[in-house]
Amino acid sequence: MRPLIAGNWKMHGTLRDCAALAEAVRQGAAATPPAAELLVCPPFPYLQLVAVALLGQGIAVGGQDCHAAPKGAHTGDVSAPMLKDVGATHVILGHSERRANHGEDDAAVLAKAEAALAAGLVPVVCVGESEAERLAGDAEKVVTGQLAGSLPDGFAAAGGVVAYEPVWAIGTGRTPTEAEIAAIHGAIRASLVARFGEQGRALRILYGGSVKPSNAKAILALPDVDGALVGGASLVAADFLAIAGAC
Ligand code: PGA
Repeated sequence: MRPLIAGNWKMHGTLRDCAALAEAVRQGAAATPPAAELLVCPPFPYLQLVAVALLGQGIAVGGQDCHAAPKGAHTGDVSAPMLKDVGATHVILGHSERRANHGEDDAAVLAKAEAALAAGLVPVVCVGESEAERLAGDAEKVVTGQLAGSLPDGFAAAGGVVAYEPVWAIGTGRTPTEAEIAAIHGAIRASLVARFGEQGRALRILYGGSVKPSNAKAILALPDVDGALVGGASLVAADFLAIAGAC
């Protein structure tokens, strides 16, 4: 399957920075079209600007979260139909920063993923264990439990994306070993196939957590690693494109 390299810009940059980053990604991808599909997820206020700038350029744009309701009295929240309306095609859900800082549990992520599907957005659902859970030998159990609780029934039919991001590898420069990544991606694949049958084989499983140009090739070559969700390195267009070029 065609790999997907997704950039999670988190809460970084100004309007000017985000416009410049989008333009640099556009130019780089036009000059050397990567084998991978590209997705960038800017902060909400800049999403429309980036979506317009990338329209027709073969680079998808996504939100970093959405509310479970399509509209309503939810001060400060953004709905899935709003994301769709301004040009998003994807939405990251259940990122560990949302799970940790906003108390989002599997049920909340499931409700958001249902909302994304209803709005016609592809959900990119994040799962991943904490360092304590890994040290206790529970990584696989935690991740498959999160999948069971967070993925809606329509996930496979809509071509949903799973991102495995060990919490302790995000923004730390540390990554699991290649064998550890391969093992957990294999377990995720098995759980997707058990739940969704053959459709589960065609779903992308991204690895995320300190992906950079220097480790991308080795990670992306592992079985059942179908792309990457990139945080810090996605803020530098050359690094993001180098990761996409490592596929
Ligand atoms: P990182 O973040 O690449 O900076 O580790 C990944 C993520 O949080 O999606």
